[in-house]
Formats: sequence, structure tokens, C-alpha cells
Amino acid sequence: MIHNDIHTKINKKSHILKFIVCKSLIDLDNILNSQNLIQQLNNLLQNSFPLQLPMSSSFVENMKLMVKKKHIDPNNVITILAIIPTHTTHTTHTTRTTHSTLSVKSIVGCVQIVIQSNTYTIINLCRIKGDRFRGIGKYLLKYSINHIRKISNVKIIYLSVSANNTKLQEYYQKLGWVKTHEYDFSSDTEPAFKMMYIL
Ligand SMILES: CC(C)(COP(=O)(O)OP(=O)(O)OC[C@H]1O[C@@H](n2cnc3c(N)ncnc32)[C@H](O)[C@@H]1OP(=O)(O)O)[C@@H](O)C(=O)NCCC(=O)NCCS
Repeated sequence: MIHNDIHTKINKKSHILKFIVCKSLIDLDNILNSQNLIQQLNNLLQNSFPLQLPMSSSFVENMKLMVKKKHIDPNNVITILAIIPTHTTHTTHTTRTTHSTLSVKSIVGCVQIVIQSNTYTIINLCRIKGDRFRGIGKYLLKYSINHIRKISNVKIIYLSVSANNTKLQEYYQKLGWVKTHEYDFSSDTEPAFKMMYIL
């Protein structure tokens, strides 16, 4: 189920990160269930977006509600999880070969890409709190942009950012995003600007 992975060194602590790409919410459901990760992802989103508290204990059910409200097809939501993995190795004595199985240790970040008639929008970018994990959001954004490059030929990617949060707008600008001054009226919590990234 691991579709893609990248080894990335992050800051001083040098975490080895891997990225799991879930091509739909059904794919995400399978991965979360098989690895017992629903609670971890729920916690990450609850802590990062307190205004969007999920209503059910199932992350995928919450996502389905959210995307339904936003008129988004759940099959057109790609989720990318940043994880810190562990490898368990074991040796088969008869053949003397060593097998390495990847098992997920913890989810440290998440981002989603919504595809609507050839428009690609990034939502729910977040990472777990703590200085040790600084930079993970940046790598998730980079990974998403590269993924969109691979699967489409679009020239612009969008995201929305709170119109009042200039610090967050500056963060995106430093990473090459451009503020459009166009209000995103689909944002239901607060006024938000659309930002775009030119590929
Ligand atoms: C946005 C986010 C994923 C960026 O992760 P990252 O690439 O690892 O970067 P950092 O968290 O280290 O933040 C980088 C800078 O942006 C600022 N910043 C990040 N998120 C911010 C926010 N929500 N509000 C204000 N400033 C923010 C940080 O203060 C930091 O500035 P500094 O370097 O001057 O201290 C992460 O900060 C996060 O999960 N934030 C909460 C959720 C969120 O707001 N997501 C954005 C949705 S549009």
C-alpha cells in the first residue's frame, strides 16, 4: 500500500520521513484501518484546525461530510501522509535471506489535494506541533506539488489562507506562492484569500 516514498532529512533532528499517497478516501480508509492510524490523524487535524472539530471518531466519515458540504467527489481527494516509519527485519533461516517490512510509527503531517474539473487545490496542510517537527509542512507542500506535476499537466495550483493571517500568507509567499487578493467564498469559517503556485 506504500505507493511512493522519499527519504528526507529534516533540520537538526534528521527525521527519516516517508510519504504515503492515498489516491482516494477509500484508499485512505484502508491504510488507516490496516495500521490503526485513525486516532492519530483525527488528533492531528483536531489540534491543527480547532474550528473544524470532526464530529465522528472516524476520520474518513468526517472527511466525507466535509467534502460533501464542499461538493467535492471523495474519489477526487488525494491525501498525502508524512510518516516516521520503523523497519522490522527478520531472517528466514532456511534461505538465509533478510526481509524488511515497513511499519508505520507515527503520522507527523498531512495534506490533501482536491481535484475539481482540472483545478487542483491544496487543503488541510498541517504537521504535528513541536520544534522537532519544523519543516515537515514545507516538505509536504513540495511533495504535493511534485505529485501534481507527475499526474497532471496543470499550470496552477491553488490553496486558501485566512485573510487575517498575514504570517501564514508570508510563509506561503516564501515558498513561492502568490497571493491573488481574490476571496475564496467557499471558505465557511472566515474570510480567506486564494493563493496560487505556478508550475
Ligand atoms: C502551516 C504548517 C503546516 C507549516 O509547517 P512547516 O513547514 O513545518 O513550518 P513551521 O510550522 O515551522 O512554520 C514556518 C513559519 O510559518 C509560521 N506559521 C505557520 N503556521 C502558521 C499559522 N497557522 N499562523 C501563523 N503563522 C504560522 C510559523 O510561525 C513560522 O514562522 P517563523 O519561522 O517565523 O517562526 C504548520 O505550521 C501547521 O501545521 N500549522 C497549523 C495548521 C495550519 O494553519 N495550516 C495551514 C492551512 S492554510
